[in-house]
Amino acid sequence: MANDFSSADKKRTCTRRKGSVGAYSPSAGLTLVRRRVAQFLAARDGVPASPDDVYLGAGASDLIKALLGLFVQHVDGKPPAVMIPIPQYPLFSGTLSELGLRQANYYLDEEHDWALQLQELERSWREASQESHVRALVVINPGNPTGQVLTRDNMQEIIKFAYEHQLFILADEVYQENIISKPFHSFKKVMHEMGAPYSSMELASFVTCSKGWAAECGLRAGFMEAVRLQEGVRAALEAARAVAQCPSVLGQCALDCVMKPPVAGEPSYPRFSQEKRATLRALGERARTAHREFNSIPGYSCNIIDGSMFAFPRVEIPERAQRAAADAGLQPDEFYCLRLLEETGVCVVPGSGFGQRAGSFHFRSTILHPADEFQHMMDSVRRFHASFTRQYS
Ligand SMILES: Cc1ncc(COP(=O)(O)O)c(C=O)c1O
Repeated sequence: MANDFSSADKKRTCTRRKGSVGAYSPSAGLTLVRRRVAQFLAARDGVPASPDDVYLGAGASDLIKALLGLFVQHVDGKPPAVMIPIPQYPLFSGTLSELGLRQANYYLDEEHDWALQLQELERSWREASQESHVRALVVINPGNPTGQVLTRDNMQEIIKFAYEHQLFILADEVYQENIISKPFHSFKKVMHEMGAPYSSMELASFVTCSKGWAAECGLRAGFMEAVRLQEGVRAALEAARAVAQCPSVLGQCALDCVMKPPVAGEPSYPRFSQEKRATLRALGERARTAHREFNSIPGYSCNIIDGSMFAFPRVEIPERAQRAAADAGLQPDEFYCLRLLEETGVCVVPGSGFGQRAGSFHFRSTILHPADEFQHMMDSVRRFHASFTRQYS
């Protein structure tokens, strides 16, 4: 974007005041970038957004941890708990454990394309509430590792559930640009459209440069929009962010570019729009190929991938292999994935790292490989699974 970057507007992003990206910024981030984020959000949702509700961070992880840190106090003598999906991105289970927060699991419904079922939310809340005070509900949409995208009706049910049980919704929406076959709706927009009382609920949502068409994960830049926080809560969050100094100013500049990509008429626009279209088209093709190919392997099943960057197929592991895994001190899916790696060079992540229903086994694979590599990988997986099954049957 060399030509665009010379525009006065872009220059001001970095050089106003201190004249260097080597200077600290305000702890919530540069005002100019927070304003840009608010403009992005307002355009995305058609709902006003304020820069004062925007906090920049070193990726979404940094901000998710900061927000979860607000829930650590006991309520009415009960320890706090947070509801998270299973399977989940392990940032959540790891952070809860680090902060001493209890984890209340709700299971996604694999038989229905990893849907988020209301009765399962109720079950999880009821069970957790016996010994804890459930304070927040984490929703990952689009899902990692599961790749589902929530429907608007489903989101309305979730919002009503959270309202009824006075739960703070943490909407991890980092894959909102990685959309394949279903439209993405933000929680903020759906809440707004539902009207009172839901439109006045607190909410924190997360976006990052690490995903989407930018996928600049090494730059460590992201933001949280936290709306309608109570004053004391906002003050606690700002104090916590202040002691963390500020996120990288270089990362903030990158976020600024992602929030305001080239538009028609600007020199970089033709190339940008061509590359973005090609990236998203390739993602869609790979998602469809992964779904088709995994389902064609006997002993495998894979739900449709509506969003994100992953396939999370279920794998049948013979009982003898499960016993061999136990002898080796490993989970059956760890054993399987290690053998797959050793015998084929294919590297995938065992489902036990994300959580899964007892007795079911999965792994997560990205779908970002070039088409020919992906086909090679699928052929290797198919051959490996056949020989593994023969060996342990
Ligand atoms: C669902 C989800 N949330 C949050 C993150 C963290 O992203 P970041 O790189 O912005 O910290 C990831 C990264 O993979 C993710 O998959």
